[in-house]
Amino acid sequence: MTSEPKRILLIIGGGVAAYKSLELARELARRGIQSRGVLTRAGGEFVTPLSVASLTGDKCYTELFDLTDEAEMGHIELSRSADLVVVAPATADLLAKAANGHANDLASTALMATDKQVLYAPAMNVRMWTNPATQRNIDLLKRDGAMFAGPVEGDMACGEYGPGRMAEPLEIADAVEAYFAKNAAGPLTNKRILVTAGPTHESLDPVRYIANRSSGKQGYAIAAALRNLGADVVLVTGPTNIPMPKGVGIVRVETAREMMEASEGSLPVDCAVCCAAVADYRPAIESEHKIKKERGGLTSIPVEENPDILKTISQMKDGRPRLVVGFAAETDDVVTYAEVKRKRKGCDWIVANDVSPGENCAMGGESNTVFLITDDGDEAWPEMPKDEVARHLASRIADALRGPSLVKAAE
Ligand code: PMT
Repeated sequence: MTSEPKRILLIIGGGVAAYKSLELARELARRGIQSRGVLTRAGGEFVTPLSVASLTGDKCYTELFDLTDEAEMGHIELSRSADLVVVAPATADLLAKAANGHANDLASTALMATDKQVLYAPAMNVRMWTNPATQRNIDLLKRDGAMFAGPVEGDMACGEYGPGRMAEPLEIADAVEAYFAKNAAGPLTNKRILVTAGPTHESLDPVRYIANRSSGKQGYAIAAALRNLGADVVLVTGPTNIPMPKGVGIVRVETAREMMEASEGSLPVDCAVCCAAVADYRPAIESEHKIKKERGGLTSIPVEENPDILKTISQMKDGRPRLVVGFAAETDDVVTYAEVKRKRKGCDWIVANDVSPGENCAMGGESNTVFLITDDGDEAWPEMPKDEVARHLASRIADALRGPSLVKAAE
């Protein structure tokens, strides 16, 4: 991201999800993005202008015809002073107004008057979402170039289940960051980076597989942080149930062999970050039929070794990435074992983390305490949320990759 702080105009419509927009404002502030709130009359039934003002740290605008506001900042200026307009929750009514060019309150007028990109985070009852009129309006807005985050499927406040729930604030904030990253030059602009993330699933039979507890959070955060610095990121991910980062190329895989193929398929890259928890072994035989208990069942599972993605990329003779970063998941003597792994696999850096079970376990948890091991020694980083670990690592990668991209130059 550039050093100039970005600003969004946050239009809050009238839906139960309005309270999540307050969390969104807080999350954006945490990421260095300022917001200014516009609250519709219906939105004001769910959250107050005071709470919007407190969380945005700015005045909350509510009325189209307000002499004080017009004197301070007219609605035209309001809609243009932001770098991006975010409508969350975008109700069926707000979408209909925006799609059809209505301008009869401050929110719809600001949407009509803006010359900036608009990101809608729809939220409504499932039947309102699937209603052909709403879908027509969405189509119109997409054709006009609008962006969308969500909605997602889930339990709704009205008791129904289905698509229509507003995307979580973290996901909307990610879409905002992705938009800014795409439109700004950063230290990794023109650099192509491969990130592997998540677990692999190794099939035993049609219903069973061997897996591990990796959630994908650390790898996804790294992909997003590299994207924010301008990199062209390919994320090869095993199965997870967290939202994919926006604005990065995604390749979904299941097994280690598929991850290997997809990673090799993404080469050449300037840098590879292997954060995935790849299964070292897979069942030697994948049964075509569900293994029956009554036929003697399973007393042991013969295994075969999986290909090692990190080692293969690190030891490439031609076209090796300039920087290869591995991860080491250890439960004892974290730094010692990680250093041995770095040497054995041949990667340049290794990020060592402790995966002993417990509250702060790196695998599956929200935070991580890592050691960055390079030729210069090992650095202990304090415990941080995974997105902060990712930001620190991305910034170190940017320092290491200074200079033109060898990959882009060769294209
Ligand atoms: O996904 P989260 O819940 O956020 O958790 C993050 C994490 C703990 C999974 C992550 O931070 C991490 O440590 N990832 C590496 C996990 C792992 O498999 O470590 P390892 O020590 O077994 O493997 C060492 C390195 O070799 C890793 O870079 C791994 O991606 C790579 N490897 C391993 C085996 C294999 N067949 N191919 C590989 O590329």
